[in-house]
Amino acid sequence: MNNKKNENVVWQQNKVSYEERCQILGQRGKVIWFTGLSGSGKSTIAIELEKMLNEEGKAVYLLDGDNIRCGINSDLGFSDEDRNENIRRISEIAALFQDAGIITLVSFISPFRQMRRKARERVGEGNFVEVYVNTDLETCMERDPKGLYKKDIKNFTGKDSGYEEPENSEIVLDTKKYSPRECAKQIFDYIMM
Ligand code: ADX
Repeated sequence: MNNKKNENVVWQQNKVSYEERCQILGQRGKVIWFTGLSGSGKSTIAIELEKMLNEEGKAVYLLDGDNIRCGINSDLGFSDEDRNENIRRISEIAALFQDAGIITLVSFISPFRQMRRKARERVGEGNFVEVYVNTDLETCMERDPKGLYKKDIKNFTGKDSGYEEPENSEIVLDTKKYSPRECAKQIFDYIMM
């Protein structure tokens, strides 16, 4: 039996192309994908970058893990399975934003290599910039901006749930050496190149 739920769905062809959307916006869509431990600085840097790009007249939008988990992904927890579904959905959403011509900043722990690889494939190689916010666990635990490391939370990334370090990120940020604004500027320069 074929139980594919979308078997009777027919793809609609639009009359407005990606190129036409980009022409109106004066920019091309991109996904800037931040990965790193909780408290590594992903969202702080993404917020700085969002402001910089906005001031430059760019159409930019930030999709942030904690915020998205209050809405469309509020049914998901932190098992490996739920994290995979969290990232699968956000990859689809990011790909749509990119196709709309928006510079889309995605800030999720996204702990596993395979989920990040799938996100890259879904968005498309040339449109995807992975940013590894490389802050070690000890520093994240010291900073603990949300007070979560000192709580006894089950399946917490870096404690009893894994984080697979990226190997081929386009950008690796050292948050011990550079301020959030300096880190954002490094990404800004890369995007505007
Ligand atoms: S992901 O692993 O599925 O990519 P995501 O980025 O959406 O995670 O959410 C991480 C945020 O949820 C953290 O910044 C933190 O505020 C909160 N959080 C709550 N429980 C956990 C947990 N068990 N592990 C990691 N982060 C958690």
